[in-house]
Amino acid sequence: MSEIFPKWTNKLPGIVLAGLIVLGGVVSYGVYYYVGPAYGRAGYQPTQPVSFSHAIHADQLGLDCRYCHNGVETSWFSEYPIPPRPV
Ligand code: HEC
Repeated sequence: MSEIFPKWTNKLPGIVLAGLIVLGGVVSYGVYYYVGPAYGRAGYQPTQPVSFSHAIHADQLGLDCRYCHNGVETSWFSEYPIPPRPV
């Protein structure tokens, strides 16, 4: 009686298991890297181009942040008003 499956198929469960372990490692590292704080640049504190103090407008007058940073709820960065250009 001839063989139905070739001999190398005996190693198939081990090959599949090794593949799943490698795949699991790659996926885990990918999630760790892309969800982690380094990729999202947590703690990023650039020096601001305009040294604007919020003491008067936000602290004393209690202005709503969205009055100036009007795009903060709709964009990934908080905009601030740019003075109109002289005509
Ligand atoms: C009177 C307008 C105004 C109001 C109100 C205001 N901001 Fe600002 N904000 C500015 C300006 C102008 C800058 C300077 C932007 C720059 O330096 O490029 C700024 C910068 C910032 C920055 C980055 C620089 C820094 O100082 O850390 C943050 C964060 C910030 N505002 C948060 C807030 C929050 C939170 C509120 C509400 C409590 C608020 N702002 C209210 C005008 C305002």
